[in-house]
Amino acid sequence: MDIAKVERVYTSYSGVYDQIFGKIFHESREACVRNLRIRPEENILEVGVGTGIALEYYPKNCNITGIDLSSGMLAKARQRQSHYHLDHVRLMLMDAGKMEFADDTFDTVMAAYVVTAVPDYRKVVNEMIRVCKPGGRIIMLNHFSNGNKLVAAVEKVISPLCKHIGFRTDLSLNTVLEGTDLHVTRKEKVNPMKFWHLVECVNRKGGVNGNGNGNGKHGHVS
Ligand SMILES: C[S@@+](CC[C@H](N)C(=O)[O-])C[C@H]1O[C@@H](n2cnc3c(N)ncnc32)[C@H](O)[C@@H]1O
Repeated sequence: MDIAKVERVYTSYSGVYDQIFGKIFHESREACVRNLRIRPEENILEVGVGTGIALEYYPKNCNITGIDLSSGMLAKARQRQSHYHLDHVRLMLMDAGKMEFADDTFDTVMAAYVVTAVPDYRKVVNEMIRVCKPGGRIIMLNHFSNGNKLVAAVEKVISPLCKHIGFRTDLSLNTVLEGTDLHVTRKEKVNPMKFWHLVECVNRKGGVNGNGNGNGKHGHVS
C-alpha cells in the first residue's frame, strides 16, 4: 500500500478502531507501556500513535510526542487528549518515513502495531533510529513472523489480504533489524495467545554501547 492508501484506510477505520483493534491489542499495549520504566522528563516519541489509545498509560511527568499520517486517527487521539487532560502530550500529523524532527531528539521511540502497518518499514525504522539518541531505546510491539514453517506458509497466504486492511503478517524481526545498529535487550511474548512480541532495543548508532535510555540510567539488559 502507498502512503495515500494507508491514510485512507486508517481514516476510514478511525470511528470503529477502538472498538475492534483497541480491544484485541489492549492487554499487551497497556502492559507494554506500563513496563517501560520511564524516567521523569524522558522524551518519548510514539510513532503511529493512532487514536492515542495508549496515551493515558504513560506517566504524566514525561514528554510524549505522537505522530500519525491518518488525520482521522489523529482527530480521535486529540479528543482523547482533551478528555483525559493530557497536557504532556503533543500530537502531530506526520509521515514516520520522513519525520520532521532533528537527529537524536528522543530518549525512547515506541511503535505499537506499526512496523507491519506502514508502506515501507525500512524507511520508518531508519527514521526511528535517526531521531532517537545514541544509546536510547527503540521499542516495537508487534506480530513478527517466526521460523515455524507452517505458520509462515499461512502468514504468506493471508498477507496480501491483510495488506488491504492495513497490515502485513509476513515480516520477521530479523528482517526488520537487518543492517541496523539496533541491539535487542528484551524480547517477550506479551499476550495470552503469544502472538505479539515486545521487542526492546538499544540504539547503538555511531558505535554507542548505551543501555537503552540515552543517558545510562535504565541499565536493563536481558
Ligand atoms: C494498527 S494501527 C496502530 C495504532 C496504535 N499504535 C495502537 O496501538 O493501536 C497503525 C497506525 O500506524 C499509522 N501509520 C501507518 N503508516 C504510517 C506512516 N508512514 N507514518 C505515520 N503513521 C503511519 C496508521 O495511520 C495507524 O494509525
